[in-house]
Amino acid sequence: MVDRNGWDGEVPVSDASPRRPPESFVAQANVADEAVHEKFADEWPACWERAAALLDWDEPYDTVLEDDDAPFYRWFTGGRLNAAYNCLDRHVEGGRKNHAAIRWEGKRGESTTYTYRELYVEVNELAASLRELGVEADDVVTIYLPMIPELPTAMLACARIGAPHSVVFAGLSADALATRMDAADSEYLVTCDGYYRRGDAFNQKGKADNALLELDQDVTTVVVDRLGEELPHVLGASEYDYHDLLDAHRGETVDPVSRAAEDMLFLMYTSGTTGRPKGVVHATGGYLSYAAWTSHAVLDVKPEDTYWCAADIGWITGHSYIVYGPLALGTTTLLYEGTPDYPDRNRLWEIIERNAVDVFYTAPTAIRAFMKWGEEYPDRHDLSSLRLLGTVGEPINPRAWEWYHEHVGGGECPIVDTWWQTETGGIAISTLPGVDDMKPGAAGPALPGVDARVVDGAGEAVDPEEAGYLALARPWPGMLRTLYEGDDRFVDEYWRRLSDPDADEWRYFTGDAARVDEDGYVTVLGRVDDVINVSGHRLSTMEVESAIVEVEGVAEAAVVGATGGSDGTDTGIFAYVSTERDADAAAIREAIHEAIEDAIGPIARPEEVVFTPELPKTRSGKIMRRLLADVTNGEELGDTSALRNPEIVGELQAAIREE
Ligand code: WT7
Repeated sequence: MVDRNGWDGEVPVSDASPRRPPESFVAQANVADEAVHEKFADEWPACWERAAALLDWDEPYDTVLEDDDAPFYRWFTGGRLNAAYNCLDRHVEGGRKNHAAIRWEGKRGESTTYTYRELYVEVNELAASLRELGVEADDVVTIYLPMIPELPTAMLACARIGAPHSVVFAGLSADALATRMDAADSEYLVTCDGYYRRGDAFNQKGKADNALLELDQDVTTVVVDRLGEELPHVLGASEYDYHDLLDAHRGETVDPVSRAAEDMLFLMYTSGTTGRPKGVVHATGGYLSYAAWTSHAVLDVKPEDTYWCAADIGWITGHSYIVYGPLALGTTTLLYEGTPDYPDRNRLWEIIERNAVDVFYTAPTAIRAFMKWGEEYPDRHDLSSLRLLGTVGEPINPRAWEWYHEHVGGGECPIVDTWWQTETGGIAISTLPGVDDMKPGAAGPALPGVDARVVDGAGEAVDPEEAGYLALARPWPGMLRTLYEGDDRFVDEYWRRLSDPDADEWRYFTGDAARVDEDGYVTVLGRVDDVINVSGHRLSTMEVESAIVEVEGVAEAAVVGATGGSDGTDTGIFAYVSTERDADAAAIREAIHEAIEDAIGPIARPEEVVFTPELPKTRSGKIMRRLLADVTNGEELGDTSALRNPEIVGELQAAIREE
């Protein structure tokens, strides 16, 4: 047993035999050298020069890796570069100015294309505008936008002037935005009036306004007018209209600011084991090299492709694989504003068909939804342009893998099951589609140059097929450099647990449990910390619980992940709540939903709120979340003798059966 609260059971193993990627794919793959794993191992860390070589550097680096201050690793030191230059200028200068950079598909069926030159022009105008508003290098600019082209434009404008961006997912609440802006001391915000949610106009600026009320610092805000007449808004002091700013700076260019490789490119908040979100810091040179290399080697992105990652840019997947990786490689990246089932369930397949998409990358939870809807939707469309499929965010069960392979990939496309995290910056475990066999259900081997191991609590490798902690035993260029809150928390969260500092052995703790087979293929089993992964979104149990206990009448609360769904794979949240006496359960349930929506956003909405007179606790008073998870998921219960109140377990089981 490896965990505190999380994984503790068996995960189905695929009995399917390994699949060879089709020869036709291998023949054209960006990386098809069978010896690539061995070469990276032999040449480590110099192997990572291949990644850095995908970029243009203002100054060449003199050292690939500095590791004398582990775990504060430094990559490509001495080198200087600009991320926006690498994503735009060099393609414009290189004769590809009229090539499509972004194809945008709006929620209401509208679509637009930005060529590299058009994107370059707008990024420059916005960069000039931000400068005029006072943004300087190293000022954190918060971006709170839905999936519209202004979002990547704002990111690149920040990168151009050396201002780290902190993108906050548009669906998060005002409170969540305020917490993140406060933590980052961010005095600039780019947001919009509103956007369409399933066809209805939704007021985003109202949320942003509420967030700013909670902040001590003065904030200068840029507002994109997305809805026009449909949602009129008035700009106050320190608020500027995005398009007015562009007009005022028409045709201006801003020299890209040359950044040291280790300078911060962006900050991304993610959930950890405590209620306070963690500000993950990514560095310019290592991150961009890694995003570009993994897009090239794993996602097989080519400049002439139309490539679609159907994630949201508000999360790391969108940063690395909608914006930075694909644009660094000069491809056409598709940006989709909507949801898969609006206006109907043909939407994604219709977009793939109309745009002749080559590579499609999505999450298992989406694939399982497509399965439920039925194969008639993809089958109705010509998806033969597809060459490669990818998944990310959670384990993909073999049945969903097979369905994706058959009904989306036409039985021809290899699938890459890519394991990574906000902190890793890019894919760390996956097959290389031009090199490695696929095993449905297992993510694959570590990427060349990445050292993934499954270890016990002391950091020692466990035997093949045995469960343990997933650790990365060598640094990699895309790794986070620290947490914005400070180096101590960085060391505590990721390095203390499995490392042996005296022996100078550092192992990065991923927070996941996994097992590895004889061939080195890793099967990820899930989180072992107090983080719940809901449809690819990371939530901390404490974040949700703190919102619940704020509700009047609530005495205590504990939340756990529930694996439901027809095949026992999709995760939702179950909240167990005890109330004060004489409380009105129905009213409290309603208030809990509202409180969670206010504190975090609709993504954290619990599937069930279960009332209980008491929560199961150890004699020392610690809530037994693991037991609650077992009750929720109908698992056999382990030893309950450590409980102070074992009688509560039977009551909870009965309550769950009724739900
Ligand atoms: C957690 C990271 C960067 C991806 C988007 C989520 C889980 C991610 C897989 C996979 C099994 C996966 C892990 C990881 N996860 N990819 N292919 N197979 N689990 O980023 O929010 O930082 O979450 O997502 O539990 O730790 P994130």
